[in-house]
Amino acid sequence: MFYHKLGKLPRKRHVVFKEKDQLIYEKLMGQEGFSGVSSLLYKKKIPCSTVDISPILDKTLSSNIENRHLNNKHYKTQKLDIDLDIFSARIPLLKNAEIEISVSTFLYDGLFVNSSHHEVYFIEEGEGSLNSEFGVLPIKTGDYVVIAKGLYYQWNIKTKVKYLLIQSKQPIKFPKRYLNSMGQFLEDSPICERDIKVPTHLSSILDDNEHKILGRRDDEYFEVTLDHHPFDTVGWDGYLYPYSISIHDFEPLVGRLHMPPPIHQIFESTHFVICNFVPRLYDFHPEAIPAPYYHHNIDSDEVLYYVKGNFMSRSGIEQGSITLHPAGLVHGPQPGKVEESIGKKDTNELAVMIDTFQPLYSSKKAENIAVKDYHKSWLKK
Ligand SMILES: [Fe+2]
Repeated sequence: MFYHKLGKLPRKRHVVFKEKDQLIYEKLMGQEGFSGVSSLLYKKKIPCSTVDISPILDKTLSSNIENRHLNNKHYKTQKLDIDLDIFSARIPLLKNAEIEISVSTFLYDGLFVNSSHHEVYFIEEGEGSLNSEFGVLPIKTGDYVVIAKGLYYQWNIKTKVKYLLIQSKQPIKFPKRYLNSMGQFLEDSPICERDIKVPTHLSSILDDNEHKILGRRDDEYFEVTLDHHPFDTVGWDGYLYPYSISIHDFEPLVGRLHMPPPIHQIFESTHFVICNFVPRLYDFHPEAIPAPYYHHNIDSDEVLYYVKGNFMSRSGIEQGSITLHPAGLVHGPQPGKVEESIGKKDTNELAVMIDTFQPLYSSKKAENIAVKDYHKSWLKK
């Protein structure tokens, strides 16, 4: 990420800074101890003035995971029951010790903090903003919204909403190979700094009322009560802040012959990568086969979330479908799809892919929407 600042700041760090004779307090928020990216926020109230903190005992996440898969799976998220609260919305469809993947149309609009996981929301549908102690970040359909662990935030989305949520124990970053030694995107990267949206202005909410924040830490939820509103920031600067980047701003790389999935990569973490398939021209060699070759995932489980358009290599896939192709198995186009792709010039497909380096387990919630016999869909009829 790059350096950014918003609001009022003193000229030097760690010096007396007042507003109307009132001392403003510094809060450093950083990753990896004091060695990773950080930001310094200036707060009107003492940030740790906590009235109470208590667990929400009947909402644990630990009992929701059941199945380890040996076979390819297809889940139709359009058949999910409608979630009525954040607790059901966050029950993962797929999970391992490092990552959780869920899909929902319910977006909690109260104050929230995730104390154990970094988050990426892919907003399949929705317009509004993400408000946080770093300010107001405008949000629109197609945005990935990256929220660091420990950050107080609140959604303000007034439209219909559907999102894919990826929660990660480790930070979610842009791929190192897209960046130079100073962290600037290289010329041949499919994304650049201008694509990244940052908070535009501060809310600077100041009151002496108590405010409750719902939190998640590992398998438990809790509620913390502060004696002030956490968005009392008058200014901040640094490299750590919530940001968004639209899937529609990802500039696809194409070639004369089929290019492998890493060219579609947008994020990386220590235990998974996130790629996206976006509308693009197909391979332009006169004898090219645009459909992917059959491939054998030796080291990763592959999850694909189909957002829009016709996915060229798959039959029976709809908007909102998720496929899971576990490590150890071969997968690729269904019968007829290789032949069908020959001579095609372009695709309008839109999909998000998550490749995890540890096996995923599915929940009952996922198995309730599983398509029967998907693993047999490669058999020629
Ligand atoms: Fe694949």
